[in-house]
Amino acid sequence: MTDAAQKLKQLQQYFESQIDHALPCASSKLTTAMRYSVLNGGKRLRPLLVYASGIALQAQQSILDEAAIAVELIHCYSLVHDDLPAMDDDDLRRGQPTCHKAFDEATAILVGDALQSLAFERLANIQGCPATTRIDMVAALAEAAGAKGMVAGQCLDLESENKALDFSTLQQLHQQKTGALFSACLKLGTIAAECNNQEIIGTLQTWSEHLGLAFQIKDDLLDIEGTTEQLGKPRGSDTLRHKSTYPALLGVDQARKQLQQLQQEAQELLDSLPFDSTLLALLGQRMVQRDY
Ligand code: IPE
Ligand code: IPE
Ligand code: MG
Ligand code: MG
Ligand code: MG
Repeated sequence: MTDAAQKLKQLQQYFESQIDHALPCASSKLTTAMRYSVLNGGKRLRPLLVYASGIALQAQQSILDEAAIAVELIHCYSLVHDDLPAMDDDDLRRGQPTCHKAFDEATAILVGDALQSLAFERLANIQGCPATTRIDMVAALAEAAGAKGMVAGQCLDLESENKALDFSTLQQLHQQKTGALFSACLKLGTIAAECNNQEIIGTLQTWSEHLGLAFQIKDDLLDIEGTTEQLGKPRGSDTLRHKSTYPALLGVDQARKQLQQLQQEAQELLDSLPFDSTLLALLGQRMVQRDY
């Protein structure tokens, strides 16, 4: 295993204990369901992005921990709601029954609500961090998660079922529903490090946009090419719901080509950064060369 791969593995294991401690004890149906929906084997790519960028820019570890927790809580909330009958209506997530199946729909809605609130509570209460930094983090995450970002993308995704979108609307859909949160990870890393270098911030922003798009194209390809066992979520869910995806609009070959092109451009962007971007590069690779 390379040093970078070892480091990512360590960070992921470390993050598991951080997020475990951030969640309330399982003392009620709601808190049991919250733990069930978060501590269930996610790849933790978003927290790792926060760490990789923040560490490269010498941010304080304890601030990065909270940013990583917050972004994963938002992601987990989005998955719980994404699987609800009113949205993708899926029964399996991360290899286990989805929250509304294991508990019930009302609980799943409330779990999402509570995870979202907890994310902002964690950021607002970071110890040993200037108030302006905390406010900037809250604002960056709120903007990415809300009606200009992830939620807008989820809305567009649902409205686009059974439709042939034009290419730029499809790209916007992907960038909002998935890319916005990836971009927020990099923003949180730079804010935690109090980095004011606009060139670095801009390059990381463009890199994350490429990666977010590539990640969602890969997700859509896996829906066709993966297996339910491997994915831990139902294969063919997009086809069943006539989702607007890259492979559906362009075909599998063209979608793969787009993915390769984005990956190449992303690597070129990283190469132009004035610091060691090995961890970011490895993460970028994992985001597009994964099989689940
Ligand atoms: C799945 O994200 C949802 C999308 C945005 C496509 P991940 O593939 O990162 O899911 P987990 O966190 O590893 O389960
Ligand atoms: C989910 O996209 C994006 C968010 C939850 C914001 P998908 O619907 O493609 O995710 P999966 O395939 O169910 O993981
Ligand atoms: Mg969906
Ligand atoms: Mg889904
Ligand atoms: Mg999907």
